[in-house]
Amino acid sequence: MEKYFYKTSFQSPIVDYFLENLENYIWTSGSRKTQWEVLNVDQNLIFLDPFLAEIHEDFKGQLNFFKFPPNSNYIWHRDGINQFNINLILKKQNSVTIFERLNEDYISEDFHRALRPITLLDYDPRYWYLFNAQINHTIFNLSTEVRYLITYNVLKSSNIDYSTALDKIKKINKKI
Ligand SMILES: [Fe+2]
Repeated sequence: MEKYFYKTSFQSPIVDYFLENLENYIWTSGSRKTQWEVLNVDQNLIFLDPFLAEIHEDFKGQLNFFKFPPNSNYIWHRDGINQFNINLILKKQNSVTIFERLNEDYISEDFHRALRPITLLDYDPRYWYLFNAQINHTIFNLSTEVRYLITYNVLKSSNIDYSTALDKIKKINKKI
């Protein structure tokens, strides 16, 4: 299912920085009013994470920090401006991320219009995942705690497609 997401072998050393500063962040609904996010995340953190530092030379993305309230669903969508993201969650909790499977990945006769073919992304905390933001997806935070997401966002306007990013990240995975 690598066309939906890809788990890297890299755990991020900047997780602890976010955990230690959790109480200090100021949350806003963001410029596009679609989610809770921290504005002005320190972009120098990219260079404290060896994996992000390496990909940043090519991808030139932006580091962001999002939160999802307890018992909430972020509705089905494709990202408006992001081509792909590199994501991680801080800790294990009862939350799921679900992609809608692409036409070629299911047998249409098995479905009808009230059924949606899906595939699950069950994040392992602290590991970076490449995330295909242009495939329809939704998030359920079924936990009674806030769910936090560190996300490195690469814009559609960067003209780097998901499969190019996947190839590059797989090579880095092998190298280290
Ligand atoms: Fe999204």
